[in-house]
Amino acid sequence: MGTLATEHLLNIEDLDVAGINAVLDTARSFKEVNERAIKKLPTLRGRTIINLFLEPSTRTRTSFEIAAKRLSADAINMSPSASSTVKGESLVDTAKTLDAMDCDLLVIRHRYAGAPYIMSQNMRAHIINAGDGKHQHPTQALLDLFTIRERFGGFSGLKVGIVGDIAHSRVFGSLAPALRLLGADVTAIAPATLLPACPELLGANHCHKLDEILGELDVVYLLRIQKERIEQSPFPSLREYARLYGIDRGRLERMKRDAILMHPGPVNRGVELTSEAADTAANLLLYQVNAGVAIRMALMYLLLGGDRDGSLA
Ligand code: CP
Repeated sequence: MGTLATEHLLNIEDLDVAGINAVLDTARSFKEVNERAIKKLPTLRGRTIINLFLEPSTRTRTSFEIAAKRLSADAINMSPSASSTVKGESLVDTAKTLDAMDCDLLVIRHRYAGAPYIMSQNMRAHIINAGDGKHQHPTQALLDLFTIRERFGGFSGLKVGIVGDIAHSRVFGSLAPALRLLGADVTAIAPATLLPACPELLGANHCHKLDEILGELDVVYLLRIQKERIEQSPFPSLREYARLYGIDRGRLERMKRDAILMHPGPVNRGVELTSEAADTAANLLLYQVNAGVAIRMALMYLLLGGDRDGSLA
C-alpha cells in the first residue's frame, strides 16, 4: 500500500484516478480487518487526530472516530458546544490554536464552504473535509464509490441517476465529478427549483422527470432534501415532491433488475423513500455506512504516510 500525492483531502479533485483507486483498494483491506474479532491495528500509534465537527453528524463523525481508534491514533473529538467558536473565536484563530498542539490530522465539518481550505492554510496538519456547507463531502463520495465498485466491479458505462436536492447538496458536489472521472454516465434528476441556477455548469446531464429515466439506471442515488439550507420551499409540499421524485414500491418495481438504490443518510422517511422502500433498501444503505469506516481508515493511513511498523496482517 502506498501514500497519496496530495497532503489534504479538501475536494474530491485532490485525487486523480490512481489516488481514488489507492483509497478504495486500501479500504478493501481495512474492511477485512473490520470483520475480524479484534479490529485494532498499531499503525497510527502516537499520532494525534482531531475531529472538529461544527455541524451535526451521526455517520461521518462516529466513523472518523472509530477509524482513528482502530488504527490506534489518539482521537480528540470537538463539537460546537465544546469549542471556543461559541465564544466568537474565529476559524483562523481556532486553526492556529489547534496547530500549536502539534496534531497530525484535522477532520473538519463546517457549515461554510471553504472552511477546510482555511484550516489547511493555517495548520501544519493534514486536513480532511468532512462536509463544508453545500460545497463538497469527499469522504462520502469515496464510500459511495467503494459501494458501487463492490457491486458492479467498476464504473465504466454505468448509468447513475442522482435524484433530488442537487442545488444544496455537497454530496453531489463530490460524487458527480468522481463518477464522471471514472467513466460513469451521470444524470442529475430534480425539479428546476432544486437544480443550480445554471444547470449546464453541473457537468452532468440533467432531467426533470424521474419516471422517464428510472428504468435505464444502474444506480438510483437519492439525495436528502437539505431543509437546513433551504430558505424558501422549492416545491408546493413535501407530499408533492415525494409523488414526483420519491421511491415507493411502484418505482422500486420499475427499476432495472440489478439496479441499486443508495442514499447518504439521514433518510427523510416518506420524502425521498417511503418507509417500505427504505426498509427494502436498508441493507445497502447500511453497507454504505459500514464502508465509511474502512474508507476513513484508508485515508488516515495514506495521508499520514502509511504503515511504518508492519503490515496489516
Ligand atoms: N451522510 C452523512 O454525512 O451523514 P451524517 O450527517 O450523519 O454524518
